[in-house]
Amino acid sequence: MSKFYITTPIYYVNAPPHLGHAITSILADIVARYHRLSGKEVFFLTGTDEHGAKILRASERAGREVSSFVAEIRESFRNLSPALNLSNDDFIYTPDRKRHWPGAQKLWQKLKEAGDIYKGKYKGFYCVGHEAFVTEKDLVNGKCADHDEKPQLIEEDNYFFRLSKYTAEIKRRIESKELLILPESRRNEVLALMEGGLKDVSFSRPSQDISWGIPVPGDESQTMYVWCDALSNYISALGYGSEDETKFLKFWPADIHFIGKDILRFHAAIWPGMLLSAGLLLPRALLVTGMIQVGGRKMSKTLGNVVDPFELVEHFGADAVRYYLSREVPVFDDGDFTHEKFSRAYEGNLVNGLGNYVQRISTMVRNYFDSRLEKPAEEEILKVPLKKGEVEYVSVPYFIEKVVFPEYQKSMDNLELNRASDAVFRLLKELDGYVQHYEPFHLIETDKEKTRVVLWNLAYGAVSLAWFLTPFL
Ligand code: MSP
Repeated sequence: MSKFYITTPIYYVNAPPHLGHAITSILADIVARYHRLSGKEVFFLTGTDEHGAKILRASERAGREVSSFVAEIRESFRNLSPALNLSNDDFIYTPDRKRHWPGAQKLWQKLKEAGDIYKGKYKGFYCVGHEAFVTEKDLVNGKCADHDEKPQLIEEDNYFFRLSKYTAEIKRRIESKELLILPESRRNEVLALMEGGLKDVSFSRPSQDISWGIPVPGDESQTMYVWCDALSNYISALGYGSEDETKFLKFWPADIHFIGKDILRFHAAIWPGMLLSAGLLLPRALLVTGMIQVGGRKMSKTLGNVVDPFELVEHFGADAVRYYLSREVPVFDDGDFTHEKFSRAYEGNLVNGLGNYVQRISTMVRNYFDSRLEKPAEEEILKVPLKKGEVEYVSVPYFIEKVVFPEYQKSMDNLELNRASDAVFRLLKELDGYVQHYEPFHLIETDKEKTRVVLWNLAYGAVSLAWFLTPFL
């Protein structure tokens, strides 16, 4: 059986999950479920990123001790899975000394053995919101444009990772699509970034300034830098660095890392660089999703427009949320959420479309055929073909197998989830047309046998819809 390893980013626990986290996890879940449905052995990982200045500061602001603060928010991220029906096989969190630390430290050791870790002085502007050093060109009026705050000017001893050494090889892997980056526009963006060559990156910070993290192996005076710690979750969760690396040997490399565009640089440059240095395989693909906005504006606490996925699920159910986020929001582009749009989509395609269809068909099958329909003979099925405009398809099953399924499969394989679900909802439309054409609720009065065959086709359609929608709903 072939394997399939898929991950979400690990989420910062400075605040509880919002809709942006929910969408990333739902999209990854859809892909994971699809590959399970196609018979692969899937390992689907999610988790939380809990170290660093940003989290420490959030706990201080809340007047809380950091480890209990993060544990509480971690639980709300963990609870996203049952709430949204996510099928993740595992959940990793960075303060887990048993599961995460050994892998992160082993990886550090490998980079060091390769001669790619060296000590140096760092001077620069550090943006806590980014958990990264920013350059003057990232600043607007002296403030970080994304986080609207003044970065700290820092001068300190750091360990550096010799990322520059791997520029050419990383570029080659991306160009040859051995490391596939989707969509194409993001791939070009990354390649452009590499034009001038990659710079070495800071990989640690003094423990006296930042103690909330993993100590650098062999030098307790330094704490591993957030990104080095975080990226290694993808292999530590598989047991890399533990006594039992079976799962790592089986599932690595990742088939897809799902990421947002804001963390592309880390995944397309630093992560491949680390893996090359350690002599490990690179992930096969990075899938870069857009951002979801609320009423055309960025979700933010200050604007007070943060959407709580738990509240939505409570009102509408997990399927409605999954439906909206996977269909009404394009995977690769920015999407928008408003309660009006959400209700419209829910009422339209789900309640009036799918719900109504299944309800009508099942009621008739129950009332007139005692809830049982045997498969009719082939020639009977051929007598009630599917008419689609000018074209007449031999039968409903034929249309599903020859038209809908290939379109669905191709779109799913290309990670065009919206297109795949478009194909499914087009099928629903055709089936509705079939109902209108044969009018089984009238036909039953004059020709029960023909109605039986028509309803069998419609029920077959309903079962197919359910199968196609398994990854989505
Ligand atoms: N901890 C890092 C990731 C480390 S992965 C080794 C991080 N965490 S995050 O919580 O800030 O973001 C996690 C993911 O959620 C990112 O992919 C980010 O793009 C995504 N989103 C955060 N807000 C979002 C929206 N409003 N819309 C869509 N995705 C968003 O970065």
